[in-house]
Amino acid sequence: MAKRPKVSPILKHALEKRTQREVASILDVDVRQVRRWMIGESQPKAPYLALLEKEISPASAVRQSAFQFIDLFAGIGGLRRGFEAMSGECVFTSEWDSHAVRTYEQNFPDGHQVSGDITATEPSAIPDHDILLAGFPCQPFSLAGVSKKNSLGRAHGFLDKTQGTLFFNVVSILKAKKPKAFLLENVKNLRGHDEGRTYEVIRGALHELGYQVEEKVIDSRPWVPQRRERIFLVGFREPVRFSFDEMAIPQRGPSLSAILHSANEEPEGHFTRRERGRTIVDERYTLSDHLWKYLQGYAAKHKAAGNGFGCSVFGGEDVARTLSARYHKDGSEILIAQRGRNPRRLTPRECARLMGFDGPGSKPHVIPATMSDTQAYRQFGNSVVVPIVEELARLMVPRILNPERYRPLPKAQYELLATGT
Ligand SMILES: C[S@@+](CC[C@H](N)C(=O)[O-])C[C@H]1O[C@@H](n2cnc3c(N)ncnc32)[C@H](O)[C@@H]1O
Repeated sequence: MAKRPKVSPILKHALEKRTQREVASILDVDVRQVRRWMIGESQPKAPYLALLEKEISPASAVRQSAFQFIDLFAGIGGLRRGFEAMSGECVFTSEWDSHAVRTYEQNFPDGHQVSGDITATEPSAIPDHDILLAGFPCQPFSLAGVSKKNSLGRAHGFLDKTQGTLFFNVVSILKAKKPKAFLLENVKNLRGHDEGRTYEVIRGALHELGYQVEEKVIDSRPWVPQRRERIFLVGFREPVRFSFDEMAIPQRGPSLSAILHSANEEPEGHFTRRERGRTIVDERYTLSDHLWKYLQGYAAKHKAAGNGFGCSVFGGEDVARTLSARYHKDGSEILIAQRGRNPRRLTPRECARLMGFDGPGSKPHVIPATMSDTQAYRQFGNSVVVPIVEELARLMVPRILNPERYRPLPKAQYELLATGT
């Protein structure tokens, strides 16, 4: 087998940030020289690499970044994407799933190494940061008898009741590092989990740490052609005016045709290929007769029993149901109608678009070439809709950079504004 050419990681990193021409100009070499380095024909000498590192390294990014944040339960970095868009610098990441880490590292190659199990990390070892981001898994808390009242007593406080859960690890980090703000994301029914007790503990613990907490269930429908309701909790350490009502919400959401592969796009990996001058979706995504028959039978059985959806087939004008982490099993929650053939699943690239990872003007999300579809579907189904996070970052970041501007108004002034007098 032919040996793959070795390309310097510093050069690779530089070329993710700058064009070949810009790199050539920084180094004062011909652009053809940069190309030769890129294809591994020759290697840049040490002084060139040192100069590149100085000009385009993560260290220079630190100088330019407006704030620092950490990315917990990071998955493939949906939350990170939203905050990097506001010139934030991610200084710590925790994710223990090796497949997700592989995707994460290919999408964010310039940073620190991803740290694994968060329960094995000492909060004091985490770098200082301004904002903590976490899409933590939802777990039950056993909290017989906890009430707001006894949370005030140290021994039975909310904080004690969160011991042993992953949320506890978030609390410990907030307690140790005291970031200015946090954004937590979870499934909508976190609020109803364990008859509301889980949520009561979460809010109680955050308040006990001194954070002002706002929450909202947000549907992704205005941004992407998917109905996906998730709860977002935003907290600030200092009192600031913040309301989810200030979110700029697009008036009209796109339909599925906006994310489906089109006949004139570039083919990609095993997802699509070119046939008679058109790009078409690979057959592997079309359901076999056997599976399609089974799903139809299953759906009919559920319908007869009066239960919701068994499987859902959509056209280009429709809006999809929620993409789940189990989409890889049979794809039944989102199937795409095809003329004269059985329906098909979405390809992982279409899932990236459905989750807003690939949007106008954004760098396409990298799905590693060797990533199985099963893992890719799981990663997207677990993730967040990126433009929602971007919008929340747009509201949160100015409040941590310039809190004075957002101090709550004195009551009298507020009443004057409210009555318009
Ligand atoms: C709901 S997903 C969050 C996805 C993420 N917000 C994104 O944009 O892709 C939760 C993630 O937490 C990770 N996780 C669960 N337990 C963990 C632990 N103890 N340490 C680190 N990561 C963990 C899972 O592997 C999963 O990727």
